[in-house]
Amino acid sequence: MAVELAADHPGVADPEYRRRRDEIAEAARRLAPGDEAARIAYTPDETATWTTASTALDRLHAQHACQAYRLGAARLGLPRDEVPQLADVSARLQHLTGWRFHAAPGLAPIREFYGALAERRFLSTQYVRHPSVPLYTPEPDVIHELIGHANALAEPRFAELYAVAGAAGRRVADDDTTLQRFSRTFWFTLEFGVVHEDDDLRAYGAGLLSSFGELNVYREAEIREWDPDAMSVTDYDINVYQPVLFAAPSFDTMVADLLGWFGALGR
Ligand SMILES: [Fe+2]
Repeated sequence: MAVELAADHPGVADPEYRRRRDEIAEAARRLAPGDEAARIAYTPDETATWTTASTALDRLHAQHACQAYRLGAARLGLPRDEVPQLADVSARLQHLTGWRFHAAPGLAPIREFYGALAERRFLSTQYVRHPSVPLYTPEPDVIHELIGHANALAEPRFAELYAVAGAAGRRVADDDTTLQRFSRTFWFTLEFGVVHEDDDLRAYGAGLLSSFGELNVYREAEIREWDPDAMSVTDYDINVYQPVLFAAPSFDTMVADLLGWFGALGR
């Protein structure tokens, strides 16, 4: 089964890239549920893309990432000189916070994805974005998954919050209205959340933390007051830099409020 790419995807007209995407997806498709991710022999191009993106993001994180994220990143210690293997990241995370990383051929169905999160399992893509634009991807690649999500999951408060959010997603997966509320609040927090910290506005959402372009502009967004209910009825567009963000008053308030909000959803 071939991987589908959007008409404006940077790799859509590159047959070698498309063959590679199919090959990496196929490696995940061959696994039984719960299997360790296959080791991918990443090419020099893929390695260079990882090194470029992770070095550039690292520099931005020093200034723009919240403390808890930086702590997680330091604990996980992802290499810069090679694309990390999901199996190795998984072993390290399991030791740190009980989370595991599994390979998925592409975006997992919602119920499967959140059901796994509830069990501290992250279904991750394994391919690298197109080499022509190392600092941009229109879809979640291994750089987004590892730099955005795995680094956070190495920190205990994030680790707990993701699991509670996953359980909420699993509970409401069949109820379209509640699922939509869930997805929006998840988006405005774990993907695009910002927090007031040390008289500054820092990012804790994986979408922001893995986006070179957006980490340079998120301070220009309209910053709204912290309110998980308001997020749940606010629409978003995945194709643009977010014009609206919600800022938590502190990291601990964010975690406590979201544990309550996701914990109560669908009960
Ligand atoms: Fe994500």
